[in-house]
Amino acid sequence: MIIEPRMRGFICLTAHPDGAAASVKNQIEYIKSKGTINGAKKVLVIGASTGFGLASRITSAFGSNASTIGVFFEKPPVEGKTASPGWYNSAAFETEAHAAGLYAKSVNGDAFSKEIKQQTIDLIKADLGQVDLVIYSLASPVRQHPETGVLHRSVLKPIGGVYTNKTVDFHTGKVSEISIQPAQDGDIENTVAVMGGEDWAMWIDALKAENLLAEGAQTVAYSYIGPALTEAVYRKGTIGRAKDHLEATAFEITDSLKDIHGKAYVSVNKALVTQASSAIPVIPLYISLLYKIMKAEGVHEGTIEQIQRLYAERLYTGGEVPVDEKGRIRIDDWEMRDDIQQKVAALWEQATTENLAELGDLEGYRDDFYNLFGFGLNGVDYKAEANELVNVESIS
Ligand code: NAD
Ligand code: NA
Repeated sequence: MIIEPRMRGFICLTAHPDGAAASVKNQIEYIKSKGTINGAKKVLVIGASTGFGLASRITSAFGSNASTIGVFFEKPPVEGKTASPGWYNSAAFETEAHAAGLYAKSVNGDAFSKEIKQQTIDLIKADLGQVDLVIYSLASPVRQHPETGVLHRSVLKPIGGVYTNKTVDFHTGKVSEISIQPAQDGDIENTVAVMGGEDWAMWIDALKAENLLAEGAQTVAYSYIGPALTEAVYRKGTIGRAKDHLEATAFEITDSLKDIHGKAYVSVNKALVTQASSAIPVIPLYISLLYKIMKAEGVHEGTIEQIQRLYAERLYTGGEVPVDEKGRIRIDDWEMRDDIQQKVAALWEQATTENLAELGDLEGYRDDFYNLFGFGLNGVDYKAEANELVNVESIS
């Protein structure tokens, strides 16, 4: 069928298989162009189908010739209805990996559940024996707790007081003021339950209990800090509490891996357009201004450039992994540069509906957003019939 973007609010209901394949191929080409990384050879990526997790899987496979198992939660296609973008991304990734002679299989289902953990464990046992890197890159609005059965919902709210600031509807370009009410009873705990470190630790415990982590195995989860502008709603808000918890969990996991000389890291990544971040108020305006400045300064990166740098210049240099005073890897260093932040803050003051197209990189934001769903990629004929029923046997 002919597939076009169909929007509802901030989400796109359709995805393009050929566009997703083109996007995956572009990322693979980028990694190949940067040369070999002396990294892990057997890699589990939890949250492997989009954003930073997909970039991690591609970097491991095509930068280090790694065998990869991906876990994600995506909708497969049905006749007349497209799959979710992560499904097409994963199908394309596996096709490319297999063509390159690389092992790649995936588990599609709720990573928070015991069943999906067990299915993944069984797959590692059968096919890889052990893994030496576990990337944890989930972004989810909900988590059903595997022990209590409680359905936790994460919220993006400030803590203690109302947060009022500018925001943009990136589809229309309209800049307006938004007020976000503070967290209420249970909001912080629920957000920590979904986006904190408990599930990461459960994964590592489960893998270790089955002796599936190799000597010296490492695990990395992704975090965000961001500027003073967004602090009240992000880092000092409910999601920030979850990130604090995730970062604290890294130390607990490292302790639990002492006997195998393993280590857990949190990497603080740059703000980028993903399905997760486009749903957060205020952040899209910040990102559109940030993109403008970082592109002008020649230091803009997407997810694939970020993860390539994480592997090549942080994790696998052959030397010690550089971390900040809180033990975190920083690949948000260019975003957080003083000169960049000062320029973004100055633009923020001026931004209005009338001048944003000029001041900010609204076009770059939109391009990235449509690219997430496989739209707007060079070399794809969007007027042609596409086969929405792409399938690969290695996704179970
Ligand atoms: P994303 O939405 O692109 O990816 C989320 C992944 O999680 C997908 O693979 C999805 O299938 C998977 N997933 C979601 N719920 C699942 C479930 N129940 N079971 C199995 N898989 C599930 O998000 P992203 O932006 O790449 O975020 C990944 C991590 O990076 C998050 O921790 C996020 O906070 C962090 N991060 C994001 C940014 C940013 O600007 N986007 C910046 C820094 C850090
Ligand atoms: Na991800």
